[in-house]
Amino acid sequence: MLTYENKIILAPMVRIGTLPMRLLALRYGADLVYTEELIDWKFLRSKRKYNEILKTVDFVDQTDGTIVFRTCDEEKEKVILQLGTCDAERALKVAKLVENDVAAIDINMGCPKEFSIKGGMGVALLAQPDKAYNILSTLVNNISIPVTCKIRIKDTPEETLKLVEKLVSSGIKAIAIHGRTKDERPQHAVHPDIIKYVAQRISIPVIANGGSKEIEKHSDIYKFKEMTGCSSVMLARAAEWNCSIFRKQGLLPMDTVIEEYLKLAVEYDNAPANTKYCVQNILRELQDTPRGRQFLDCQTLEQICAIWGLGEYCHEKQSSYQKQGIQGRWQVSP
Ligand code: FNR
Repeated sequence: MLTYENKIILAPMVRIGTLPMRLLALRYGADLVYTEELIDWKFLRSKRKYNEILKTVDFVDQTDGTIVFRTCDEEKEKVILQLGTCDAERALKVAKLVENDVAAIDINMGCPKEFSIKGGMGVALLAQPDKAYNILSTLVNNISIPVTCKIRIKDTPEETLKLVEKLVSSGIKAIAIHGRTKDERPQHAVHPDIIKYVAQRISIPVIANGGSKEIEKHSDIYKFKEMTGCSSVMLARAAEWNCSIFRKQGLLPMDTVIEEYLKLAVEYDNAPANTKYCVQNILRELQDTPRGRQFLDCQTLEQICAIWGLGEYCHEKQSSYQKQGIQGRWQVSP
C-alpha cells in the first residue's frame, strides 16, 4: 500500500496531468503522480473498458465517446485520482468504479475557479468543513485504497490547523497543502510558514505545495521541503514548464522534454488538442518565434511531431493503430 512520506509528487493539473505527462514525470523520477481533477458526474457517465491495442484502461464517456480517464499498468501503484465533488454519495460511486485501477483517491478542496465554487466543489468545501469531512469519511470507510485531500491555507496558521484537524479526523492518509489562501493567485508569495506550523502539529504526512516560483532546478525542491518542514513536496507549474525537474541528475533541455513527451502522447493515442496544449505550456513565450508560430498552425499530431523530428514515428504508429481498429481522433480542431 502506498505511503506518503519522502515523496516528490506531480500535482493535479487540469489538462496537463493526462497519461503521457504522468508517465513522463514518473520516468524522470516523480514518486507519485496525481491525475487532473476529474468531475464526479462526468466520471459517472463513463464506462470502464480495457483497450487491447494500447494496453490501457479507459473510462469512456457514454454520451460522446471521449476518454474521461486513461491509465495503464506502469502507473498503477503510483497514480492518485483527484476528484472534483461536493457529494459524498457520488464521490463514493466514482471511487468504487476506479478502486482497482488507481493507487489512491484525492478530493480537490483547493480550486478557487468559479466553476468549482458555484458547484460547491474545490475551495467551497473549506467553508463547509462538515460536508468536507463527510465526503472524506464516506470514502475512508468504504474503499480499500488510501484517501487524501488537497486544500489551500486559511488566513492564519491557527485557523488552518483547526480545519486540517477536522479533516484528518476522517481517517485520511495524508493532506496536500497549497500555501496560498483562496484569494491569492499563483503570482503571490507562498506561505511556507503556515504549512510548517500545521505539519509540526498533525500526525499524518503533509505534502507541501505552492513553491514552483522558486523551484528552478531539482535541488530547489529540497529547499522548499526544508522551509515547510514536510517530507513530501508536490510540484505543479515547475513540472508543467519542464517535467524533467523531477530528475535528480538535472534538467533536460526543453526540446528533449517535448520529444519525450510527444513519443508518449503518440504511443498512448493522446487527444491532439490536449497534446498541443501541453506542448504550448512547455514552449510558453517561445510560441512567439517562427518555430512557435509553425507549431501553433499545426492541425494534426503528425504535424506537431514533425517539428521535433518525429513525423515519421507518429505516422507509422498511427497507421498501425488505425489498422488495428482505433478510430482516428487526429484532428487538432474539434
Ligand atoms: C492547477 N492546480 C490544480 N489543483 C488541483 O487541486 N486540481 C487541479 O486540477 C488543478 N489544476 C491546475 C492546472 C494548472 C495548469 C495549474 C498551473 C495549477 C493547482 C496546482 O495543483 C497547485 O496547487 C498550484 O499550481 C501551486 O503549486 P505550484 O505551481 O507552485 O507547484
